[in-house]
Amino acid sequence: MIDKQSPIPIYFQIEALIDKQIKDGVLRPGEALPSEREFASEYGVSRMTIRQGITNLVQQKKLYREKGKGTFVSWPNIEQPLSKMTSFTEDMKNREMEPGSKLLSFNRVEATGEIASILGISEGTMVFAIKRVRLADHMPIALEQTYITCELAPDLHEGVLHSSLYQYFEQECGYIINDAEQTIKAILATSEDAALLEVEKGSPLLAIRRQARLEDNRVLEAVYSHYRGDRYHFVTKMSR
Ligand code: GLP
Repeated sequence: MIDKQSPIPIYFQIEALIDKQIKDGVLRPGEALPSEREFASEYGVSRMTIRQGITNLVQQKKLYREKGKGTFVSWPNIEQPLSKMTSFTEDMKNREMEPGSKLLSFNRVEATGEIASILGISEGTMVFAIKRVRLADHMPIALEQTYITCELAPDLHEGVLHSSLYQYFEQECGYIINDAEQTIKAILATSEDAALLEVEKGSPLLAIRRQARLEDNRVLEAVYSHYRGDRYHFVTKMSR
């Protein structure tokens, strides 16, 4: 795998080899790399050469070092197109990442004025209030607070909230989810955000508010999400 006769410097071959293992998913995000010593003896090259290859990948942010612990594979920045209305589960599956949810709370509450006006119901109507941390390959990506009019999904239960809400609405309730209006703004992580998303307090987050509608124009959900700014960015196509 390493060609010592090649004019391509060995450190560069090491760099390309690790890079390929990351791309092929042989090395997964968060996974520790073997030590420089192990690498060096596996490929019969010096530790210096290994270090040079690894340093290049650290500079490219494909790897990160933790003092006293080793070198790890970085988490990819998730690129999210803005033109298609997808669910979190679909977003992660499209990237071959394992979607997950940590349910923090699930209650029936009376809609406040703001929630009622987004959901198109009168204040005080009973709504489900759901709070979940959304995970990609077990890593927290977003904190999601969802409100759904109870009448729309009277049988909604905790089991659903560990997987996909949209799948439940479409497959179990037979709803056709049609469109959404979404706003995105930058915020800084509060202590609560920081603890749940495993970032420093004050880290940049993207606050996204979505109002999703069904084909018959009824509002399905009002969702407030806080996405990690270091893991997520949006892309959109424009024409003029
Ligand atoms: C995204 C949207 C939310 C929506 C969720 C559904 O995160 N921003 O508005 O509720 O997807 O995801 P899932 O079907 O995985 O529960």
